[in-house]
This record gives sequence, structure tokens and C-alpha cells, in this order.
Amino acid sequence: KRHLISAADLSKDDALLVLDTAEELAQVSDRSIKKLPTLRGRTVVNLFYEDSTRTRISFEAAAKRLSADVINFSAKGSSVSKGESLKDTALTLEAMGADGVVIRHPASGAPHRLAGWVQGSVINAGDGTHEHPTQALLDAFTMRRRLGGLEGRKVTIVGDVLHSRVARSNVLLLDTLGADVTVVAPPTLVPVAVDTWPCRVSYDLDAVLPKSDVVMMLRVQHERMNASYFPTVREYSRRYGLDGDRMAQLPEHAIVMHPGPMNRGVEIAAEVADSVRSTIVEQVANGVSARMAVLYLLLGGSEPAIGKEVSGK
Ligand code: CP
Repeated sequence: KRHLISAADLSKDDALLVLDTAEELAQVSDRSIKKLPTLRGRTVVNLFYEDSTRTRISFEAAAKRLSADVINFSAKGSSVSKGESLKDTALTLEAMGADGVVIRHPASGAPHRLAGWVQGSVINAGDGTHEHPTQALLDAFTMRRRLGGLEGRKVTIVGDVLHSRVARSNVLLLDTLGADVTVVAPPTLVPVAVDTWPCRVSYDLDAVLPKSDVVMMLRVQHERMNASYFPTVREYSRRYGLDGDRMAQLPEHAIVMHPGPMNRGVEIAAEVADSVRSTIVEQVANGVSARMAVLYLLLGGSEPAIGKEVSGK
């Protein structure tokens, strides 16, 4: 495969290969080996048209740990403000020798269009309300590390599903990996097309929590919200927020996830975000390993991922 645009691009074997490669790479990092020579001579462009903290930084860290050259492009401060199109921007970056382009864009479908214009691999780092496949991979990696295999695991995804590219990519990937997914949201924040998603839908968080192995809380995306979709913050938190009392309904082994950034006190209480069940910081660390695996598998050619080390401790 050349690109990663959607979690649906991944067969079960593909997904397991990414997760197994990420595990190997994480173990190398755990041994304080900072850098592998695998992508030496390759160039990765991070093309960000929308704000990001975790995804942008972890793609940069991942590419650098594999010895790739990294060019960071942010639409803010660029010639995009003079009206330059995505296509012309992409062709300009390609002329500088990009082997891989990591793109975040507010328009759903932008990575798909980009893949038709450039020679290199395109990796979707979040497009509008559509998909965020590397987030789903790092989430699956985190679940697998914490709970073992994903087959038959009950994963509950809660909140602003309507605007969530994280939810869609997770539902698709987790279904591929054999998990049993339920999305929980107020009726106004469930996408019409949810009927075509491979998951259950519930409006009652308290009914679902006691049967969950994982509860993944989603950010309320105020910036994409039409006021008529949203009750009030207070009402939302009361019915769909995860506080300490609700967390106590989870089975003992269950974990709490959030892709970040969080609205503390809205979808998740601070006591939950900071609790021992929370994997939120772990997800960020795992994001580097998952993205290293994706970059290696798309750009690495025949080089072994691990074996030669550039620098030790
Ligand atoms: N989870 C996630 O995509 O975070 P950023 O928007 O900070 O990249």
C-alpha cells in the first residue's frame, strides 16, 4: 500500500502488522535507543492546515527517530493566506523532494485529493469530520498493550460522535480487529450515516458502562458545533460526562481513554483524566511508536525496521 487515508484501507493483517511493528519499535525506544537509520535519505513533509499539538509533534518525532529529514509546513504564516491552493502548495513541497506527506486539513477528503496529485505517500493526520486513522492505530495499540488482544473486547465511544473523525476511524479499525463497539451520544450528536457503521448505538451511558472494557471519551468540538445540536454544558456533562461516580460503574480492569485535547469538566472530570485508569498520557507516547510503524511500512522499502542502530543511549 502507498497511502493511509482511511482506517478502512487496512485489512486485519495490515492492521496487525502495523501494531506488531509499533510494538517492536516501542521496545527499541524502551531500551534507550533514540534513533534508527531506516528512513535515512527520505523526506517527510508535515502539512498542517489545522491546529494540532499531539499529531504534529509525534509525526515529527517519529520521522526523526527513523532518521528521515522533516519539513514542517503550517498553513498559518504561509502563502495559503495569499490564496495558494492545496494542489499548488503540495506540488511546491513535492518539488522539494517529499517522499511522504502527512496532512491535516479542515476539509473532509483533502488527503484523498492530495494522493491524486503527488507521487509520494499520503498519510491522513485528520481531515475535517471524516477520519484520523493513525489516532485509531495508536488507540488500538494502547488497548492491546493494556488488555491483551482486541478480539471480543467491548469498547464504548462516548460524546460528540457527529463531528468526530477519531470515532469513525476507531469504529472501522476496531471492527476489523474483532472488537465489539458501541457509540453513545445525545441523539443530536449521532451522524445520520451511523446505520452504515459496524457498531451499536446507545443513548444511555449508564446502561453501557458496566459492560465496557474500554470507555473512550470524545472532545466536544465547540468549534464545529451548531448551537441547536448541543444542550448546555451542564446538561451534557450530567448525561454524557464521565465523572468519578460514573467511572466507579466500570469493571475493575476497564480503562479510560481520550484522544486529547480534553475539555476537563465537560466530557471528562479532572479526577477521571488523572486517575490510574486513564491512558491519556500513554496514548501520546504510543502515538510516536504507531506513527513510526506507519512511516516505516509506507516509506521504508526493503530496509529492516530494526537491527542497525544509529546512536545508543
Ligand atoms: N488527538 C489529536 O489529534 O490531537 P491534536 O489535535 O493535538 O493533534
